[in-house]
Amino acid sequence: MQDTLLTGKQDVASGDMARCISIETARQEAITEAVAVLSRGLPVAVPTETVYGLAADATDPAAITRIYETKGRPRFNPLICHMADLQMAERYAVFDPVSRRLAERFWPGPLTLVLPLKPESGIHPLATAGLDTVGVRVPQGFAGDLIRAFGHPLAAPSANSSGKISPTTARHVLDDLGGRIELVLDGGPCRVGVESTIVRVEPDRLRLLRPGGIAVDALEEASGLPVERPAGAGAAIEAPGMLASHYAPNAAMQLEARRIAPGDALIRFAGVSVEGEDDARLVLDLSPRGDLAEAAANLFDYMKKADASGAAHIAVTPVPNRGLGEAINDRLKRAAAPRES
Ligand code: TXA
Ligand code: MG
Repeated sequence: MQDTLLTGKQDVASGDMARCISIETARQEAITEAVAVLSRGLPVAVPTETVYGLAADATDPAAITRIYETKGRPRFNPLICHMADLQMAERYAVFDPVSRRLAERFWPGPLTLVLPLKPESGIHPLATAGLDTVGVRVPQGFAGDLIRAFGHPLAAPSANSSGKISPTTARHVLDDLGGRIELVLDGGPCRVGVESTIVRVEPDRLRLLRPGGIAVDALEEASGLPVERPAGAGAAIEAPGMLASHYAPNAAMQLEARRIAPGDALIRFAGVSVEGEDDARLVLDLSPRGDLAEAAANLFDYMKKADASGAAHIAVTPVPNRGLGEAINDRLKRAAAPRES
């Protein structure tokens, strides 16, 4: 792949492509090189089980600033801080008993807990956008090992330009940010494919800030508390990043489609057919066997493929709203929402 070598300078000259290292064939090199780049205060694209993250030292204001600049992300939108394990997380955030139970049950995994930040924790206010809470998550697999090797929490939003579709392969990252960062670690396609579920524990309920890779019923079952869902797009933004329009493809999205116009792209679920599909530009099935986990894993890649086909519209057939379907429908609705800018 790209063979631009790290040059030791502080910034990547524009036009240089990021170097890409496979964690499958060169795991130790990936960790060593990533720690070196992170230590210079620069972000690295890292695979997690949900989506690829653009990771940088959560205690270093210059490093965090580079994340916001690289993504073009609004600074009122706080970043999730990734930890190696629960013990590390407890150094930075205050855990109530229910949050600890959820952490023990679902970490490492696609759950982000919003918790009070410990005073003097060292996490820089730029990472939390000045809030007195912090979104904390322990990712599975390689990313956890990298954090352990680096020794500091990693602030990591999804590794895409702000407002665009999140990346689930190294290729997605290179196509979008490859000219703006030094290093992409390639872990293959992400297993879960949608971002983590974000919750805040309150005395008598869990407040769902973003549906994601852990289904809501699993949280209810593990906590014994009811989950209160967000009031919907247009309501006050509780997870500041939950702008109504997000994950925006260039094509217009048509949800709950029953027919499709010639030349448009179709994304279907479980083999459902629609009127006019024979004249579609492209037909993709999120999961022919109707499996919502498989559909989540394919979602962003298929949205990107449908968009790249040049179709003016992307029609999507209904996806059941149970289990991971809730996160899938959330992302589809945001992709279809009127653009804010
Ligand atoms: O799966 C994931 O969570 C991925 C991978 C890379 O770990 N990360 C991710 O980050 O999706 P990002 O930045 O795209 O989304 C973070 C969300 C935003 O909606 C942000 O507003 C919310 O988390 N968030 C972060 N800290 C928060 C806090 N203290 N209170 C409320 N919401 C918070
Ligand atoms: Mg994102």
